[in-house]
Amino acid sequence: MMNKLWSFLFLLGFSILMIVAGLEDEESNCFALRDEACPNANITFWLYTKEKPEGLEISPFSIPVLEFLPMKSLKVLIHGFNGHRNYTPNVQLRPRFIKLDINVISLDFQKLANEPCYSEAVHNAKYVGRCIAQLLRLLLESKLVANKDVHLIGLGLGAHVAGFVGQFMPEHKLEHITALDPAKPLYLVNDTAQKLDPTDAKFVDVVHTDVLMLGLLEAVGHVDFYLNMGVEQPNCGPVNQMETHFCYHNRAADYYAESISSNAGFYGFYCPNYKSFATGACVPKKDIEPMGFYAHPEARGRYFLETNNGPPYAKGTNYKNINRQLKGRTFMNDELIDQLFENKADA
Ligand SMILES: *[C@@H]1O[C@H](CO)[C@@H](O)[C@H](O)[C@H]1NC(C)=O
Ligand SMILES: *[C@@H]1O[C@H](CO)[C@@H](O)[C@H](O)[C@H]1NC(C)=O
Repeated sequence: MMNKLWSFLFLLGFSILMIVAGLEDEESNCFALRDEACPNANITFWLYTKEKPEGLEISPFSIPVLEFLPMKSLKVLIHGFNGHRNYTPNVQLRPRFIKLDINVISLDFQKLANEPCYSEAVHNAKYVGRCIAQLLRLLLESKLVANKDVHLIGLGLGAHVAGFVGQFMPEHKLEHITALDPAKPLYLVNDTAQKLDPTDAKFVDVVHTDVLMLGLLEAVGHVDFYLNMGVEQPNCGPVNQMETHFCYHNRAADYYAESISSNAGFYGFYCPNYKSFATGACVPKKDIEPMGFYAHPEARGRYFLETNNGPPYAKGTNYKNINRQLKGRTFMNDELIDQLFENKADA
């Protein structure tokens, strides 16, 4: 049964890949990096502050020392597949961070992660991580930012990129990585060197919003939050359409953005695993943790919460009428759902 499920998930990952990537043909401009050198013209960095809301391109060769806000934190925003510096999670997060008067660096590696070239994008992700590490090392060593103030936030593929940054700078253990719906296709591997895992930073928090399609179901952080079980998000459309899943996936950034200034707050309650949530074996008790911007670095384990049907999404600690149903809420049939229960008990 275990093998059956794994092969199902593998096939699922593969078919998603084909859907996402379309039919890759030789005429497409897919580009896999061969030159590992950093900096790379296709991996650019853009600094944003209150004074520079339009962004300023920076590189390891030209770090505009005077543009950095001294002694302030630095958020590094890493887009996912088909993204760029003005796409999710940048659009949601950057304006809010700038308002907090902190430094923001947005990555742009659009040419290395563009449709229909998903497998190339996965290959390139490692090198993007390497080049971010190079820049961060320079910023840290020139004391423009302190290690404790550096926070990487990546969506989908970008979450794994953040993990690679951690691998490429073992001498400065990263303080904090936030993974917004870390990507599943081609990341259903056991080797933690090939994907995000808790050893990549002192604190890795994860927001799961599309566990059955584009994002990972398994926990990959110190703390993993599952919103609406990670199987559907409100107002995204019919479950059997790909567009709907892109909406679920990107919604992770909306939730995180809202958490920065939410009155109610997003609070998950602890369940040892996915199955215990789904079967009702765990109920909200004392063990609750804030999700998002105010997540506690000491938080460990899996936490579950629901959202409102529209913004503001945060429900505080209101756990009335929690929906623990999977059947009928996803594109999977009941038999597959049962297998998921049986086999992914420790997801
Ligand atoms: C940048 O990407 C293009 C393909 O979009 C490629 O032709 C070029 O060689 C790349 N440049 C570098 C430095 O990797
Ligand atoms: C990965 O781990 C699972 C569960 O422990 C195991 O069943 C599977 O064979 C492993 N896959 C590989 C490729 O090592």
